[in-house]
Amino acid sequence: MHVVVTGANRGIGRALAEHYRAAGHEVTGTARDGGETIPLDVTDPAQHSDMAKVLAGKPVDLLVCNAGVYLDKTQGMDGYAAEMWAQTFAANVTGVFLTVQALLPNLKAARGKIAILSSQMASHTRAPGGSYIYRASKAASLNLGRNLAVDLRPDGVAVGIYHPGWVKTDMGGGGAEITVDEAVEGLSQRFDTLSLDTSGCFETWDGRAHPY
Ligand SMILES: NC(=O)c1ccc[n+]([C@@H]2O[C@H](COP(=O)([O-])OP(=O)(O)OC[C@H]3O[C@@H](n4cnc5c(N)ncnc54)[C@H](OP(=O)(O)O)[C@@H]3O)[C@@H](O)[C@H]2O)c1
Repeated sequence: MHVVVTGANRGIGRALAEHYRAAGHEVTGTARDGGETIPLDVTDPAQHSDMAKVLAGKPVDLLVCNAGVYLDKTQGMDGYAAEMWAQTFAANVTGVFLTVQALLPNLKAARGKIAILSSQMASHTRAPGGSYIYRASKAASLNLGRNLAVDLRPDGVAVGIYHPGWVKTDMGGGGAEITVDEAVEGLSQRFDTLSLDTSGCFETWDGRAHPY
């Protein structure tokens, strides 16, 4: 299996890349620091185009859209600057779409799968307030995944949207509920079971259907 993971230099992305490498799969990690296989700032269309050229003709069995930011974690009601909205949506929404678009020929060739790391904070049902930018961006990535699932079904490409858990990473912080290893074990099982029958699902790392 050939797996592509964005944001593979730290956190959940790095651990997912290590997991699939250890299992004997071929992994293409991308990162904006250039330390991984392919340099990719997911907000940059030119770098997507370069990645598409490097991977041209190489089927992708699993694309994990992992790269993301949570810039408004500590904002008060007087915060949430317009620039913060723009930066967050560029990474968490546009970045996901551009990645899928760039690798679509590779995904179609493999009849592969797309896993979008959204969040429980995407949910309209579970809406406790605050973090307006992050929540809205993750809701948009959930919506994107649901609609891609419809459009890519005829090509045999399944799309799943996931809450990875509250994970001990730079983003999740030390007080989070689960380790990166626990998240990766659960997520990789979810990606295994993703199929055209379940395409468009919104699931938690431990296999529960999440309310939209
Ligand atoms: N941790 C949690 O509790 C939690 C909960 C729900 C959802 N999630 C989601 O899970 C995913 C991974 O989270 P994490 O906890 O591993 O976060 P993290 O530790 O903060 O790592 C984020 C990763 O995304 C990359 N990234 C950010 N902006 C990028 C850009 N413009 N282009 C390319 N890469 C970019 C970072 O690269 P740099 O090193 O270059 O910044 C880093 O590799 C995110 O989508 C996050 O929203 C996490």
